[in-house]
Amino acid sequence: MQTFDNVLLEQLEGNVYCLTVNRPKVLNALNKETLADMAAALEVVAADSSARVLLVTGAGEKSFVAGADISQMQALTALQAKKFGEQALQTFRRFETLDIPVIALVNGFALGGGCELAMSCDFIFASDNAKFGQPEVTLGVTPGFGGSQRLPRLVGRAMAMEMLVSGRMLDANEAMQRGLVNHVYPQAELMEQGLKMAAKICRNGPVSVKFTKELVQRGQDLDLENACAMESDLFGLCFATDEQSEGMTAFLEKRKADF
Ligand code: CAA
Repeated sequence: MQTFDNVLLEQLEGNVYCLTVNRPKVLNALNKETLADMAAALEVVAADSSARVLLVTGAGEKSFVAGADISQMQALTALQAKKFGEQALQTFRRFETLDIPVIALVNGFALGGGCELAMSCDFIFASDNAKFGQPEVTLGVTPGFGGSQRLPRLVGRAMAMEMLVSGRMLDANEAMQRGLVNHVYPQAELMEQGLKMAAKICRNGPVSVKFTKELVQRGQDLDLENACAMESDLFGLCFATDEQSEGMTAFLEKRKADF
């Protein structure tokens, strides 16, 4: 498998990939080289038609990703900063357009670009030491990797506004209460729980999982009528797959489906 300087890409059991941001000395801060590695790693996963789930995490026990790399950003010009933001936005968007579910395993700080990365994944599991926040205003900038847009969509406008203008961090349990995180686990169990969920997803029909992700991701930006029309189209299309006949026949024969 291809190797990268700033991210680790591993293929785990059952066609599950794990992408680890790997700069633990700087709490996995995202510089442009790390974003480029991440984009390249995502294309490796996208090119593997047997891939079923992608897990995303950070190296070490302290941090998922503590934001964009402040030492690299500090001297950027306005146009360079805009380009840096666009690079991240494009890379993060790829998590949403990937055919397979992407689970963020947030194992510590998810601040600024780290919170934005986690929010670009399909859902988030957090360790009990995780902290979420958008502290950009404390640095004299706005979020640049999608935080001002994805956070309100996930936690609602008022809570997002509070976090964005104050820079206040949420601990894992509050992040779960606010709907940002699906589950909180002791840190030592986080990967195991991610793998358990991945295994559950892998047992389902891969095409129906892919269509379902597409419906949720694309549908949230459409009006309800068009979104539901897209659902009927993909629901109908499922009936042209072997998966549908196997899934429904297996149910009627009282056995487990073999996809
Ligand atoms: N960029 C660059 N380096 C970072 C970093 C970042 N975002 N976050 C941490 N580091 C580095 C520190 O500079 C430090 O390096 P040295 O050992 O060389 O001094 C190392 O990581 C360890 O960090 P700390 O010593 O600060 O660790 P701590 O436990 O005392 O504090 C922390 C942890 C609260 C996460 C603190 O590091 C921190 O506040 N980090 C910055 C968080 C932040 O503001 N993130 C948002 C960045 S802006 C952004 O992301 C904009 C955007 O939307 C695009």
